Amino acid sequence: MARYSRIIGWGMYVPERVLTNDELSRMVDTSDEWIRTRTGIRERRIVDKPAETTATLAERAARAALDKAGIPPTALDMVIVSTSSPEHLFPATACIVQDAIGATNAGAYDLSAACSGFVYALAMAHGLIVSEQADTVMVIGAETLSRLVNWQDRNTCVLFGDGAGAVILQVSDTPGGVLATVLGSDGSGAHLLSLPAGGSRKPPSLETIRNGDHYIHMDGKAVFRFATRVMAEATREVVEKAGLSLEDIALIIPHQANIRIIESSVVRQLRFPWERVFVNLDRYGNTSTASIPIALTEAVEAGKLRPGDYAVLVGFGAGLTWAAALIQWGPEAPPVTWWQRMWWHVLWYRWSRLRSLYRRVRRRFFALYFRGREQVEQWTFTREPSPDGRGKDRTDQK
Ligand code: UT7
Repeated sequence: MARYSRIIGWGMYVPERVLTNDELSRMVDTSDEWIRTRTGIRERRIVDKPAETTATLAERAARAALDKAGIPPTALDMVIVSTSSPEHLFPATACIVQDAIGATNAGAYDLSAACSGFVYALAMAHGLIVSEQADTVMVIGAETLSRLVNWQDRNTCVLFGDGAGAVILQVSDTPGGVLATVLGSDGSGAHLLSLPAGGSRKPPSLETIRNGDHYIHMDGKAVFRFATRVMAEATREVVEKAGLSLEDIALIIPHQANIRIIESSVVRQLRFPWERVFVNLDRYGNTSTASIPIALTEAVEAGKLRPGDYAVLVGFGAGLTWAAALIQWGPEAPPVTWWQRMWWHVLWYRWSRLRSLYRRVRRRFFALYFRGREQVEQWTFTREPSPDGRGKDRTDQK
């Protein structure tokens, strides 16, 4: 049987806190007019509570995608989280999400390809499915870049926002789903967009903090030039690879970085009609790897993609990287019933938290138990009786 990977669920989550351009203009030397005309952004969402993190945003998006797909978390074989703002260098954020949603049968790993990461992860999920290593894969793009930008640097802080989007890919014998992918990298441009410190090359130190090396650094102009070129090239390439032409494409969902990049690459270079390009960056800013799944979710909810439609997802980002995927939208799953929702939300997710807590407590208990046992054994060993029958403390033998 031929194996195809179809998108059966999608969902998104953004933090409640809205940060407008006017608010930003009170924080740095900028203006609503400059940000709107140079980027197209009007406002963005940012996390404003310590408990809101990349994993919690990802978890909310993942739950929404599971609701849409109408499958339980236990049906997932793999959870892939694409992010540039992971919870830690390790463990993977994906493991935290896997535990939180109770995907007890799934493996989990993070993928780092910056803003192109979601499309990279989609390609990896597709590969796992067609090579029979998995049947159902959750792909999440999630970011809290607001925690990594320098709020005094107007070159970067006006651009980024926080959020998460997720899709679920499942094996199918009906043609459709992910039809072609194009992935690219040019590491000679690695320095153009980076977070210099915090990794093994420049571990955090007083000096890195003093220099602001733990914040995002970007040469905006160079990234802009690169982006306008690769977005058009990657789109053309992926359409050709799928044996289609641009006229067949119902919708292009580009990485939501800058309206001028989208206009220049998709509309001017490809001569693609503006009405068939999905844009929502005015409300969310650049949410990096989360931007494409958030836009995809909103496009589907707005009825812009119908069963059988072809769409191109195309992005670029730090690395430098670029990625495009051509998908054919499939029939939607029947809506989830209230009792399924209730079962998952009220019982399963709560049970998952309890199970996780129980495992932590059990691990702690056994750690204490074994430590105690070791101490008793050590004590018995050192008090072992000597051949003459009198107690001999081996610690005295030194
Ligand atoms: O996911 C990938 C993430 N990265 C990107 O997508 C970045 C791609 N690059 C861009 O989107 C654009 O290059 C920016 C939006 C970052 C900058 O736009 P630009 O049209 O390339 O502006 P610029 O860097 O050429 O700066 C023009 C002027 C400069 O002033 P002078 O030297 O002409 O006096 C900047 O200092 O605008 C100034 N400027 C600002 N002014 C007000 C730069 N940032 C701001 C700001 N507010 N926030």
